[in-house]
Amino acid sequence: MSPVSKQPSPSEGSRVTAATQLAAKVALITGSSRGIGRATALLFAERGATVVINGRDETRLAQTAELLRSRGFKCSAVPADVTDPDQCRAMVTRIIAQHGRLDILVNNAGISMRGAFGDLDPAVIESVIRTNLIGAALPTRFAAAALVQSRGSVVFISSLAGVRGFAGVSIYSAAKMALSGLAESLHAELSPAGVHVGVVFATFTENDPDKTVMGADGRPLRVSRKASTTQRQVAEEILRTVVRRRRRSYMTAAGKLLVFMQRHFPRLTDAAILHSRGRIHKANR
Ligand SMILES: NC(=O)c1ccc[n+]([C@@H]2O[C@H](COP(=O)([O-])OP(=O)(O)OC[C@H]3O[C@@H](n4cnc5c(N)ncnc54)[C@H](OP(=O)(O)O)[C@@H]3O)[C@@H](O)[C@H]2O)c1
Repeated sequence: MSPVSKQPSPSEGSRVTAATQLAAKVALITGSSRGIGRATALLFAERGATVVINGRDETRLAQTAELLRSRGFKCSAVPADVTDPDQCRAMVTRIIAQHGRLDILVNNAGISMRGAFGDLDPAVIESVIRTNLIGAALPTRFAAAALVQSRGSVVFISSLAGVRGFAGVSIYSAAKMALSGLAESLHAELSPAGVHVGVVFATFTENDPDKTVMGADGRPLRVSRKASTTQRQVAEEILRTVVRRRRRSYMTAAGKLLVFMQRHFPRLTDAAILHSRGRIHKANR
């Protein structure tokens, strides 16, 4: 067969491009033993990346690693608590030793909360800030040199609560909004060195059946609400943010509308959120 006859058809060509979009890239996705992180790890692996998954629960992490490998994907699993500096440093050192490079860091590990601000146990305040903010800053801190070397990409997974504060999720909102400040500063520092910094503001997403958030007293609460997106859709948006080196993604029409309303009609937005009386975020014991 001549080389010309081996050329893929246009539709085959786009499949090949999609399958190799992240070829030779090494991607660390924090908090990827379940939920959005696991969906992102699967999608990145499908697109050719060598994926490094992470979480604290080693059993669940091993199950997710097995899922990826059973589908023929290249994957390694690094158990680490992203709020612990030593574990974050060791995680990045291990990735460089094993794979020789790091091209993509998705700071996905996070935890949400529900409860009136006046009822919050101080330990909940600390834990939510630690996981969502410190737990994104530390992996980035230790990965920064490798990302500069690869002219890579770091993406933070935020929320619509990182665009606008809602009743019942005050500290989660504060932590996610802080990620935007971190991302802006990192863009100023690292983009001259060729590093892309992006933020994805995910909306209500389908949850794993056993997902819980923190109640005001620190006990786990199950969340009940209608999801607007699937985990796969969020993963696709994270992929687009990396591949197109986008600064911000608000995902859905509702997300974009919220940003528009906040900017141009702040009083109307305040009134609509007050009118909702905390119905936007619900939780059950
Ligand atoms: N689901 C939504 O509706 C929604 C909406 C907007 C934004 N988001 C954001 O999207 C991200 C993922 O959410 P999700 O719903 O997929 O959450 P999830 O199902 O609860 O999964 C969280 C993942 O993070 C890991 N994790 C938690 N704390 C960690 C720590 N200290 N160190 C390392 N790993 C840790 C968990 O594993 P271990 O527990 O084993 O550590 C798990 O793999 C979060 O940042 C969340 O705020 C979610």
